[in-house]
Amino acid sequence: MKDFKDKLVYITGGSSGIGLSTAKLLAAGGASVIIFSRRQQVLDEALKQIQSCGLSAKQKFAGRSLDVSKRDSVEAVFSAALAEFGVPDVLINCAGRAYPRYFGDITYQQFDETMKTNLYGIWNACSVLVPHMKAKGGVIVNVASMLGFLGVFGYCDYSASKFAIVGLSECLKSELKKYNISVSVLCPPDTDTPGFATENITKPAETRAISASAKIMSSDAVAKELLDGIRKNTFMIIPGFDGKLTYFIKRHMPFIIDMVMDSAIKKTQKS
Ligand SMILES: NC(=O)c1ccc[n+]([C@@H]2O[C@H](COP(=O)([O-])OP(=O)(O)OC[C@H]3O[C@@H](n4cnc5c(N)ncnc54)[C@H](OP(=O)(O)O)[C@@H]3O)[C@@H](O)[C@H]2O)c1
Repeated sequence: MKDFKDKLVYITGGSSGIGLSTAKLLAAGGASVIIFSRRQQVLDEALKQIQSCGLSAKQKFAGRSLDVSKRDSVEAVFSAALAEFGVPDVLINCAGRAYPRYFGDITYQQFDETMKTNLYGIWNACSVLVPHMKAKGGVIVNVASMLGFLGVFGYCDYSASKFAIVGLSECLKSELKKYNISVSVLCPPDTDTPGFATENITKPAETRAISASAKIMSSDAVAKELLDGIRKNTFMIIPGFDGKLTYFIKRHMPFIIDMVMDSAIKKTQKS
């Protein structure tokens, strides 16, 4: 897909951060955009921003409340959206959460909720929408993270969910090719969003030390790379030079990543 004009896009987690930036960019490119997340008030505020980026009165914009972690909610809300707006050309699964903590402080409930939102959320959305998308083809982007290829201190539940998203997406990509549906996975680095601010509250000191030297991207820059990735049909979309370099080193010289992270952890634990 090279052009988003007149395309219909569904974005979960489209009311904030990376999802909202992507929605605005798509609206500016002539797409109709339907966003889905839990809090209706936040959806309404986001919708005003998205609408103001639109190009023509023909474009449709709407926000619908749904909890991606709840299969029944996803089925009901997406079924209503399909009837009202039609089958999406593009599905962006961006809803997600992160509460970094020491392994010993991650409760069963936190692990369960992280998996249900980040991983099952994507499963739920795809399992309801893919059967409809098969007839016309399209694009699916599942939002993982750099922690979907790199395990980092403090992210046992989050990283497990994001690695799983990469695996799920790779299988899906292979299976959906014959229906002309391309599947990509977005792996952003630290990105300046409301979600990132929340994430910083619970970060262990060692996690802070590891991420201290990493550049933080803007959500607009990440959204731009996401859309470029769709245009180029890239499977693994890694925004920013640092992210791409980290991916390369992790694949070919993983000991370097271990050395850098271990040294930051040791220094923090000593002090
Ligand atoms: N920011 C980063 O540094 C970073 C880095 C790598 C990857 N990511 C990933 O990028 C995605 C977006 O992150 P962000 O930083 O932009 O987060 P954000 O600003 O917190 O936005 C998250 C969005 O997801 C929605 N959401 C959360 N839980 C949901 C649920 N159960 N059902 C439906 N919607 C839900 C939120 O709305 P409601 O709360 O109203 O539901 C909101 O619209 C996430 O998957 C995150 O893991 C972020």
